[in-house]
Amino acid sequence: MSRPQTNHTLQELDALHHLHPFTNHKSLRSGAGPRVIVKGEGPYLWDSEGNRILDGMSGLWTTAIGCGRKELAEAAYQQMMELPFYNTFFKTTHPPVVQLAKKLADIAPDNLNQVFLGSSGSESNDTAIRLIRHYWALKGEPKRQIIISRRQAYHGSTIAAGSMGGMSHVHEHSYPVYPGFRHIVDPYWYGEGKDGESVEEFGLRAAKALEDEILAIGPENVAAFAAEPVQGAGGVKIAPSTYWPEVQKIIDKYGILFLADEVITGFGRLGTWFASEYYGIKPNLLTFAKAATSGYIPLSGLMIDDKIVEVLMNHNDDFNHGYTFSGHPVACAVALKNIEIMENEKLVEKVNTTTGPALAKMLAKFKDHPLVGEVRSIGMLGAIELVADKRTRRRFEQPGRVGLMCRDHFFREGFIMRAVFDTMVCAPPLIWTQAQFDEAEAVIAKALDQTLNDVRGEIAA
Ligand SMILES: Cc1ncc(COP(=O)(O)O)c(C=O)c1O
Repeated sequence: MSRPQTNHTLQELDALHHLHPFTNHKSLRSGAGPRVIVKGEGPYLWDSEGNRILDGMSGLWTTAIGCGRKELAEAAYQQMMELPFYNTFFKTTHPPVVQLAKKLADIAPDNLNQVFLGSSGSESNDTAIRLIRHYWALKGEPKRQIIISRRQAYHGSTIAAGSMGGMSHVHEHSYPVYPGFRHIVDPYWYGEGKDGESVEEFGLRAAKALEDEILAIGPENVAAFAAEPVQGAGGVKIAPSTYWPEVQKIIDKYGILFLADEVITGFGRLGTWFASEYYGIKPNLLTFAKAATSGYIPLSGLMIDDKIVEVLMNHNDDFNHGYTFSGHPVACAVALKNIEIMENEKLVEKVNTTTGPALAKMLAKFKDHPLVGEVRSIGMLGAIELVADKRTRRRFEQPGRVGLMCRDHFFREGFIMRAVFDTMVCAPPLIWTQAQFDEAEAVIAKALDQTLNDVRGEIAA
């Protein structure tokens, strides 16, 4: 039976039929409805009203090479015509998955030579959680179940990945949190540092929290430490220089596994293929997603240490885990082309030489603005903290209110930065040129002033 034709707008149809991720639907549907994004070209998006928008978030930390790249569409088309789908269960494989696995082994840290593929960061983190526990069981240490991660970490939205993450509003929906996870302080000096404590001292204290937690749980019960090299969705929190070397020492001392969640930092964000290389850390497991295909098609993966694979190889039984789309041929073909483009255009190197320094320089111009407590950046990740009192780091009442005001000003001016409570974060496509940095600078200057006008009465004199 065919449905009756309606004259609903896209926004009305959206309200009738579509539930959005991480969204207050009451508020979405009581306002003008969602903005409809209809087109992307290079670093720009267009909405259905014809407005051009500079995308400072690469979609959702994804479109590293920008929109509209024909080469990726052609790679997908060719692969769809050749072999649109076959699974990688039951002792089968196919050329794109093998080629991608080889390529990933080439660009990942030395000890990570094998990959288990999925379609989202959440899925690959679930794979990691299962593999970590399976590994210890196979090693004859089944009590090692607990994974320590950090408060405000985001590892995804499935029940296990959401529990491994440290966001209380995510935990609320899956209460009780899936067992076997503990959360320690995140290495975020601006929010967690004590008065008079230097950034470096705080970095050591935050690392020491890992050792304290291991000892409190009992090292014989600890399976792994899981962390994003730079906390992304938590607010682009960049660890002090003392943090990662100390964390790595503690991991080595207690012989636990280390899962680096590089779903945001992977594929060049910090000027190296993976942030683990940037920080000199040695994860045994590394998850990636998002920019692996520049977001053109879903693909994620878990890179695995040779020593873990060796344990699997020594046991003649199945790892009972997998997804229909593990190693989807079209996604693998697109990822291969995406990596090739990044290599040919030297986008990763440019984060070191050009784009990363340009982002840092642009953001630094706002550090003296009356609303701004701190600006920080690393590679092509950046953040501007909005505070009520610069001197004391005092926040605004109702966290998130001022961030949303500022985000709306950005939006109206044709620019996207994300509000994490009152921290404005950005992760621009790696293809930005000086023209985009200049454009962003002008909008940020204007939007910060507009936000200041909105909250002038709440700012410390
Ligand atoms: C660090 C990190 N890990 C995992 C995820 C989850 O990825 P997905 O949304 O693809 O499941 C995200 C998503 O933003 C992320 O930022």
